[in-house]
Amino acid sequence: MQDDDKLKDKGSGLSRRSFLKVSGISLSVPLVMGYRVVKVRGADVKVFGPGKVPIQLTINGKAQTVEVEPRVTLLDALRNDLDITGAKRVCDRATCGACTMIVDGKPVYSCTTLAIEAQGKSITTVEGLMQGDKLHPVQQAFIDNDAQQCGFCTPGFVVACKAFLDKNPNPTPEQIQRGLGGNLCRCGTYMGVRAAVAQAAKGGRRNG
Ligand code: FES
Ligand code: FES
Repeated sequence: MQDDDKLKDKGSGLSRRSFLKVSGISLSVPLVMGYRVVKVRGADVKVFGPGKVPIQLTINGKAQTVEVEPRVTLLDALRNDLDITGAKRVCDRATCGACTMIVDGKPVYSCTTLAIEAQGKSITTVEGLMQGDKLHPVQQAFIDNDAQQCGFCTPGFVVACKAFLDKNPNPTPEQIQRGLGGNLCRCGTYMGVRAAVAQAAKGGRRNG
């Protein structure tokens, strides 16, 4: 058996065992349903992983089950495991907005949201905006105002615009500019995007 002293952190002088004692964490090991239970200050806390665990996500109104490691982001779970590829990975660090999804009514960067944390929440992607074969008014407004060039940022922008208009149905030009500050377009289509939001706000949002 490994000597506990060998595990000592030379800097702190604390062994792993004494750290757990001091911090009030004790291990109760059995692996049940993909998670372990540890005691933290007397309370049971579930610890998932590091292997794959089954999770259930509600995406565009449909419940879907997928097995992923707990470290997997919402973006990767959808793109790699569920083949829902509208949201794009560009910066992968919560800067550009290409991966924007709406989670419980709020726009989020799905590249920095864990899939496991999105359980029990309502997730909307660009695929969920169309109603049958009819474009969402924001999507239509992007076309009408030529609000895309290469189009790579467009799904994230469309979703961010929908979330913005849901909260701000009658925005001023200044509010539109500020409200879309979380999304970047390398092609520079900002004027078209702002015009699209203004059009959708004015009248074209009958679908939703
Ligand atoms: S890919 Fe998520 S913010 Fe850029
Ligand atoms: S249209 Fe090309 S990055 Fe936005």
